[in-house]
Amino acid sequence: MNKEQYTKAIELLNLYAYHYYVLDDPMTTDEVYDKLYHEVLEYEEQNEGDILPSSPTQRVGDAISDGFEKASHLSRMWSLEDVFDSDGLQKWLTKTYKLDRNISFYCEPKYDGASLNLIYENGILTQGITRGDGSIGELITQNVKTIRSIPLAIEHKERIEIRGEVVLYKEEFERINHERAAKGEAVFANPRNAAAGSLRQLDSSITASRNLVFLPYGVGENTLEHKLLSQKMEHVYSLGFKKPPLCATCQNFEEIEAIYEEMNKNRESYAMMLDGMVIKVNEIAAQIDMGYTVKNPRFSVAYKFPAVEKITTLKEILLQVGRTGVVTPVAVVEPTNIDGVVVERATLHNFDEIERKDIRINDKVIILRSGDVIPKIIKVLTHERDGSELKVQKPTNCPVCGSELLDEGVLLKCQNLTCEARVINSIIYFASKPCLNIDGLGSKIVEALFEAGLVKSVLDLFELDMEKLLKLEGFKDKKAQNLLDSLESAKGCDYWRFLNSLGIEHIGEVASKALSSRFGSSFVDASKEEIIALEGFGEEMAESVLEFVRVNRETIAKLQATLRPLEPLQREEAHENPFKGKSVVLTGSMSLSRDAIKEMLEALGAKVVSSVSKKTDFVIYGEDAGSKYDKAIDLGIAVLSEQEMREKIEQA
Ligand code: IVH
Repeated sequence: MNKEQYTKAIELLNLYAYHYYVLDDPMTTDEVYDKLYHEVLEYEEQNEGDILPSSPTQRVGDAISDGFEKASHLSRMWSLEDVFDSDGLQKWLTKTYKLDRNISFYCEPKYDGASLNLIYENGILTQGITRGDGSIGELITQNVKTIRSIPLAIEHKERIEIRGEVVLYKEEFERINHERAAKGEAVFANPRNAAAGSLRQLDSSITASRNLVFLPYGVGENTLEHKLLSQKMEHVYSLGFKKPPLCATCQNFEEIEAIYEEMNKNRESYAMMLDGMVIKVNEIAAQIDMGYTVKNPRFSVAYKFPAVEKITTLKEILLQVGRTGVVTPVAVVEPTNIDGVVVERATLHNFDEIERKDIRINDKVIILRSGDVIPKIIKVLTHERDGSELKVQKPTNCPVCGSELLDEGVLLKCQNLTCEARVINSIIYFASKPCLNIDGLGSKIVEALFEAGLVKSVLDLFELDMEKLLKLEGFKDKKAQNLLDSLESAKGCDYWRFLNSLGIEHIGEVASKALSSRFGSSFVDASKEEIIALEGFGEEMAESVLEFVRVNRETIAKLQATLRPLEPLQREEAHENPFKGKSVVLTGSMSLSRDAIKEMLEALGAKVVSSVSKKTDFVIYGEDAGSKYDKAIDLGIAVLSEQEMREKIEQA
């Protein structure tokens, strides 16, 4: 790679990342990205002086600081006045119209996260500063650079402050909490706390691992000359920042109300948490005229969504036993209406959580419900205790089958494989969407089938017939036939679905796909080394597969005979040639693209990898071959020019 190719590669990587992280519309595979990234990294190792500030390698979080410096915003970061209903909005509008009658409004979501100010100078991100007191915040530039939806460089050369909110998507929030709970760490109360906490990590690799997202909502100091805020924001989005899931310009009260209703109605379906809608006067000149009170701009207001936090009483703690035997406590609360939904239960993750928060039966608690976030207890109001509260005891026996529980510290497990709860939940899982996707086999029906003694394992499902089903309450001809039909249509499924439906611990959908495409049905004979060699697999996963196969080999065979899942397409065996089974590294530019050469070699049975090691068999080089060539020579590995490679292939 030469300097010009390096610059091009950076542009391409940034374009890939923009499509992936900002547009949510990937234009290539991870593999292609990673390969180019490593080539860039290699070039930078050799040419430290050439490293561009916009290079994605500059994002890696490995800096550890012992505290954050303070830094000043170029212009103040304000707060917003809140309104809570149509009345409040009407009053705000009346007040604002008195200042200027000829105005329209720009409406966008109020994101629930942590605010952040980005300073770009000469098109380069130079500082990332937390809001702080509005004038001075903490300098967290290194952490900010790990956020992939923040461009490191923009096509705007004058100094500009871009302001926005750093959020954690709800799914990511659940993932992080799940992981923390499993490790016995305190879970975050809500995505906002999690985002703020993640931003202020002294170890930026932790920030990097949290998959934070930046959503711009305005500019601070700037030289933009647009007359309308909506135009300014369009300009900001065009610089490579994310657009809101919904935004609009409105002319009057009715239009604002309509957008608010729409946003509130859809809020569950958005990836991030919203706590309201922000309304801003769209005309910049009018904004300047209106100015600020001590705290807030007069030209803007936050129209909050109905509360998602409510105070209620904890009545009871139920114990749920999952298909893997893990016992999870679930809080039963005094039914409370939160934003139109009656909440009766909340998650508690595990017993450590109960102990740490000192949650007691009869306690007054604050519960939070929002979007796809499962309702949870976020706070215990200890000052409201009257002595009637009862401490929660950690159970010693399975609440379903009574057998003694294994206390693994954070997790409690029922070890009885025939425990009713485990069996029922495994069957429900077996039939679920990412597994065999069997319509009409939800939890109620599985429970009924189990209770009637018709199904004690997944294998029994395929022994069901009309006669058996019609004995069940609520089953008439049609319903029974539908269930039999969907069971029948599960046969001949993709192999990965079959594999996933087995419910092997630590092996989810992605891992099932990988195992399946590598081994197909011979996964039962794969060695630990072969499994670990798969991308994304570690020791624990490999052991889990081996252990599962050891215990369930017979059941797997029987199920397979019944379901006849399709073997994934296997590559035709390559004929004998010098590259078959060899590990090959490519370097330099060749007559065809890297991908084309790679495909050609793979068709011959070679494994094309990106870096040279002692295990490499051949390094094939083109023009401008770089350090990989030198390394091959150093290690005494065979090097071939493109021409030599072709000759060898032809001879074979
Ligand atoms: S504008 C000019 N717009 O809410 C006023 N703020 O309560 C500056 N926030 O500190 C804020 N989404 O962190 C604005 N679309 C949005 C917002 C938003 C979230 C946060 C921001 C601000 C706080 C004010």
